Parts: sequence; structure tokens; C-alpha cells
Amino acid sequence: MTETSTAEAPAKTTPFEMIGGVEPIRRVVDAFYDLVESDPQYAELRAMHAPDMTPMRDALTGFFTGWMGGSREWFTAQGGFCVMTRHSKMPITEKTAKQWSDALRAALVVAQVEPGFAKQMDQILTQMAAGMVRG
Ligand code: HEM
Repeated sequence: MTETSTAEAPAKTTPFEMIGGVEPIRRVVDAFYDLVESDPQYAELRAMHAPDMTPMRDALTGFFTGWMGGSREWFTAQGGFCVMTRHSKMPITEKTAKQWSDALRAALVVAQVEPGFAKQMDQILTQMAAGMVRG
């Protein structure tokens, strides 16, 4: 019985496994904040954040890790986390939401995430960012 088990239905694969674990996630996050910090096209988004973005790099890495099916350590340490609630009091406009999505899309390229997978991540996160726009 156990000898044939490897030929049966493939094990479920999480997005976390598909992207390749924490390292590629961290590469995306670092590329994202490097762009936000250096490229003037993201100036308004940059201005919404604290001068030191180091804690944000750790937070977004922890968020993506749990959200994609990896360790939920970061969520546990937060005592739970709802990404929409967390952003609901922020003055997010169509313009800054688009800056977030554009920077994320560019970061996925810089971090060399497989294009098909990157497209899916981009679509989901662009929708989420658009849903955060207030008024
Ligand atoms: C759509 C996907 C998004 C995800 C997954 C995401 C994720 C996160 C995470 C994990 C944090 C850290 C929260 C914490 O440590 O408490 C955070 C904070 C923040 N996010 Fe987002 N975010 C998204 C979209 C946006 C957009 C569209 C904007 C603005 C246009 C934005 C602006 C901010 C700001 C300013 C903070 C820092 C808040 C503070 O320091 O108090 N985020 N985000």
C-alpha cells in the first residue's frame, strides 16, 4: 500500500510552496520597498509610510508568508490580523492604491518570480488594493 502511494493524487501545493518559500517572498518585499523608497513615481505612497521602512519589510514578509500558506507566526504575534481592517482608516486614494499595485507588479519582475504565478499574485493584490480605496 505505501509503495504505490507516491503514484496517487499529488499532494496539495500551497502558493507558499509554489513561489519557493520565504526567500523569494523576502526578495519580492525588498524589491517592492526599494522601489517605493527610490522611484519618484511612488512618492505619495512613500509619504504615507514612516521614514524607517525596515519594520514594514518584516511585516509584509510575515503577512505574505502566512497568507500564502506558510508559517502563521507573524499573524499569531499580531494577535490576529485583517488586512482590510488594518487599512480601512488610511486615506487610500485610487492614485496611491495604483502606486501600490504598480510597485508590487514591478517588484515581482525584479525578484524574478515565475511570470504565470506573478500574474496571479498581481491580479489578486491589485483587486485588494482597489478595495482599500476610500470614497
Ligand atoms: C493590497 C495589498 C496590501 C497588503 C497585503 C498590505 C499589507 C500591509 C501590512 C502587512 C502592513 C503592516 C501592518 C502592521 O504592521 O500593523 C501594512 C501597513 C501599511 N500599509 Fe499596506 N498593504 C496593502 C495595500 C496598501 C495600500 C494600497 C496602501 C496605500 C496606498 C498601503 C499603505 C500602508 C501603510 C501606510 C502602512 C503602515 C501603517 C502604519 O505604519 O501605521 N497598503 N500593509
